[in-house]
Amino acid sequence: MKVLVATEKPFAAVAVDGIRKVIEDAGYELELLEKYTSKEALQNAVATADGLIIRSDKVDAEVLDAAKQLKVVVRAGAGYDNVDLASATEHGVCVENTPGQNSNAVAELVFGMAVMAVRNMYNGTSGTELKDKPLGIHAFGQVGRNVARIAKGFGMKVSALDPYCPDEVMEAAEVSPVHSVEELYRNNNVVSLHIPATDETRRSVGFDLITLLPKNGVLVNTARKEVIDEEGLRKALRERPDLKYVADIRPDIADELAQEFEGRVFFTPKKMGAQTAEANINAGIAAANQVVAFLRDGVDRFRVNK
Ligand code: 3PG
Repeated sequence: MKVLVATEKPFAAVAVDGIRKVIEDAGYELELLEKYTSKEALQNAVATADGLIIRSDKVDAEVLDAAKQLKVVVRAGAGYDNVDLASATEHGVCVENTPGQNSNAVAELVFGMAVMAVRNMYNGTSGTELKDKPLGIHAFGQVGRNVARIAKGFGMKVSALDPYCPDEVMEAAEVSPVHSVEELYRNNNVVSLHIPATDETRRSVGFDLITLLPKNGVLVNTARKEVIDEEGLRKALRERPDLKYVADIRPDIADELAQEFEGRVFFTPKKMGAQTAEANINAGIAAANQVVAFLRDGVDRFRVNK
C-alpha cells in the first residue's frame, strides 16, 4: 500500500523523516510530492495512493476522481475547509484532521503579530504594551486556548466568545465568557480570530464589527481569509485611521490594502502559523499514525466526514 504526502508548502525535513519512519515501519511505501504547482501533479501522484497526507492542499472532486485507490485523507492540521467532504463521502474516502497538534505554533504567532502591531510595525515611533489590555478571543478552540494561556504571561485581561464552548471551560482557564459578538469587539483592544471557515462564518467579520473596536484597536487574523468581508475591512480602515489589521493570511485584496493603509496592515507571504519544526513534527507524525491506524485497523477517531 502507498501513502502520498502532498504538500504544496512542505513540512520541515525532520518531520518528513518522522512521517517516513511511521509509514515504512508499518510496511507501507511513502511517496513525497512537495512544492507542486498544478492540480494535475496532485492528480497524477494520488492515482495510485491508498492514503493521503496533506496540509492546506486542495482536495476537490476532481482530485478524488483521480484517486482510484484512495481510502483515507488526513489533513495534518486543524482546518479542513480545503477538502470537499461531501465528495469524499461519495467516493468512500474517510477524511480526518489532527486537532491540537499545531495550535501552540499558531498561538505564538498571534503574539508575534500583536506586538508588531502595537509597536507600529517597528517603524521607530512610540507604541503601546499588551500588559493590562483586554484581549478578545473569537472562538475558544485549541488555538484560542493556547492564546489565552500565553496572554496571561503578557498580563492581558482575557475574554472569549464561543457558542460551542461551555462557559465553565473558559472559566476553568480564567477567561471571561462573552455571549455577544458585538460585546467582544466593543470591549477589547486586541481581538484574535480563531473561527473556522464555514457557511456560517464566511465574510462574517466586516465593517460593523471591526468599527466597534476601541481606539487603536488591532484585529489579528491567524484563522482564514474567508471569514473576513474584505470590502468591509477596507471601509473600516478608511473610516478609522486608528485601527490595524495583521494577518497570517493574505487577503485577496492584499496589495491594495498594503498600498492604501501602509504601516497599518501586515500580511505574511504564505500562511506561517503552523510553519514550525515542532508543529510539523506533531501534526505530520499524528497524521502518519492516523493513516496507518485507518489502513491497518479501520480506526477513524478523528473522522470529520460522515
Ligand atoms: C490549520 O488549519 O491547521 C492551519 O491553518 C495550518 O495550515 P497549514 O498546515 O497549511 O500551515
